[in-house]
Amino acid sequence: MTSSSLPSTSSRKSKPFDAIVRAFGLLYNRLPGSYNGLVGALGYRAPDLVADALADHLSLANPMVLDAGCGTGLTAKAVHARFPGATVDGFDLSEKMLREATKTGFYRTLKPADATQALPFETGGYDAAVSSGLYTLGHVGPEALLPVLDAIKPGGLFALNIYDGAWEKLRFEKAIDQLVADGLITVRAHEQATHFGRIGQTCRVIVLDKTT
Ligand SMILES: C[S@@+](CC[C@H](N)C(=O)[O-])C[C@H]1O[C@@H](n2cnc3c(N)ncnc32)[C@H](O)[C@@H]1O
Repeated sequence: MTSSSLPSTSSRKSKPFDAIVRAFGLLYNRLPGSYNGLVGALGYRAPDLVADALADHLSLANPMVLDAGCGTGLTAKAVHARFPGATVDGFDLSEKMLREATKTGFYRTLKPADATQALPFETGGYDAAVSSGLYTLGHVGPEALLPVLDAIKPGGLFALNIYDGAWEKLRFEKAIDQLVADGLITVRAHEQATHFGRIGQTCRVIVLDKTT
């Protein structure tokens, strides 16, 4: 895939972060009310990175968008800022997070669902999907790509970020290469970026094109 020119992240530098990332996932799910404050204090940029990546590649004015692992709604907010006419549906494993997301008013529909399983959304029903902060240690790996891709129309896009520590440990590159080899996707864009600005934590920002 297009990642060959990007630096490897198997460096010792990312290792101390991995335990923090896992612990972080456990902590905020118990304290959803404080999630936005917590990630804001760490300079969290993933929702904006993902929404920018989608805006760079999707030319529809009023897209139907699915937000995978929507949390409290930060990604839908970022999508609406770039696509004021968008309709956004979302899902999350956590009912507490969904309650916070409901309060934002950014979603048409919100459902509890597990990204690693078949999703309770129409197959091929969306012009695009977005996901920030879901593909990381302690949450989901590449097994959660296909269920989200299933919800996207052929020719639609999936913009997501993947924590660099998870990129290598959970073998995302191999999984994405396999999806490309199977003719299900092409990789439209792939960049490295800092998604927690205050602690310099990096991720991949990827746009997948669903081909069939
Ligand atoms: C770091 S938060 C990101 C939330 C939001 N997208 C954002 O960027 O602020 C990760 C979210 O993924 C959800 N999550 C974890 N595992 C999941 C799964 N298997 N299926 C759906 N959501 C999941 C968590 O409940 C949490 O809300």
